[in-house]
This record gives sequence, structure tokens and C-alpha cells, in this order.
Amino acid sequence: MNENQLREQIAELGKSLYDRGLAHGSAGNISVRLAGGDFLLTPTNSCLGRLDPARISRLDGSGKLIDGDPPSKEALLHLAMYQERPRSEAVVHLHSLHAVAVSCLADINPADVFPPITAYAVMQVGKLALVPYYPPGDAALADAVRKLAGKHHAVLLANHGPVVAGTSLTAAVNAIEELEQTAHLMLSLRGRPTRLLTAEQIAELNRRFPS
Ligand code: 13P
Repeated sequence: MNENQLREQIAELGKSLYDRGLAHGSAGNISVRLAGGDFLLTPTNSCLGRLDPARISRLDGSGKLIDGDPPSKEALLHLAMYQERPRSEAVVHLHSLHAVAVSCLADINPADVFPPITAYAVMQVGKLALVPYYPPGDAALADAVRKLAGKHHAVLLANHGPVVAGTSLTAAVNAIEELEQTAHLMLSLRGRPTRLLTAEQIAELNRRFPS
């Protein structure tokens, strides 16, 4: 896809997330890597449901604004994901309801937030790591994401929300939707006896569907 097509796709998928209640207000941001090494990133304080493709920020590899509106305050966090994951072509961050609820729980395993409830959670989210709390846009938040990004394409910012990288924008959006769905399931099943996937079943999924 060329740059204009990617700008259109960011606006189209942003609206899709917004229309289905996965994004609200000015929360969340979306980026894609361009062929020459620059990035497109949604502008700060923009609503994902009402993006103007022509005003999406274009940044160079160091995060400097090349054109468009001032970028998301999470630019450093997006760049950290790309720098640690050379095969990632897109990054999506949301404040989706159930994932944020899970990010506020005091008793989750920070190395592996979701129990293995479904095959798609294992295949598309994998081991979800919890990133310690820092304020939105803080350089320390980007540093904390960088420490985990090499091993995790999906991370959950404590008391904030999920960040997912993908090999395309549709892959990243599909995975963050699966993450939100899994968070909803996890909360729905809390306190109920639950049959989890076994270690053998997880290993078989990883063999059949390598990431
Ligand atoms: P921006 O409006 O700067 O993109 O910030 C929104 C957000 O989700 C912060 O985490």
C-alpha cells in the first residue's frame, strides 16, 4: 500500500473501532511504518472516529514531525515497539473498556496476564505482559514498553490500556480486538470454575500457527 492508501486505512479502521465502542473521546492512537522508514501516527487529541487522512502526522525514525498535525503524545512508545520489533509494520493503542478493567486488577500475573481461555487468545495475543504504571506520554512509559517489546507483541499498560504491534495494520487491529474480547471473557469467567487450555494444547497451537 502507498502512503495515501495507508492514511485512508488508518482513518477507516479508526472509525470502525470507534463505531463499535472500542475507542471513545480522544483516547487511543494508531501508527504504521512507511517503506522509507518514516511513520504515520494519529495526531494528539484526535478522535479515532473522525480522523482526516491528510492531517495524520508523518514522523521520521527519530520521532521528528515531518508533516501533518502534532503527533500523539505516545509517539515514543510507538517508536520503541518498532525499534524492538523489526517485523512490525503497525501499532495500535486503545483504552478499550474490558482491557482497561483488567489492567487495574491487583492480582494479575504481570508476566502473563491472561489465562489460556481460548485458541484465538493464544494465537493472536500470546503472553500478554503488564507494563508498570507511568503517566500517558511519559518517556519512562516508552522505556518500560521497550524492555518488553522484543518478547511481546502485545502489552498491557497498568491502569491505562493495551498496545499491540502487528505485521500489518489489519493484523494489529485484529489482535487488539481479540485482546479486548479475551479481557471481557476473563472478567465474565472470574470466580467460576473454568476449563483452561492445557500446555499440550497451547504447544500444538504454537506449532500450527507460528507467530
Ligand atoms: P493522544 O491523544 O496524544 O494520542 O493520547 C491519547 C492516549 O491514548 C494516551 O494514552
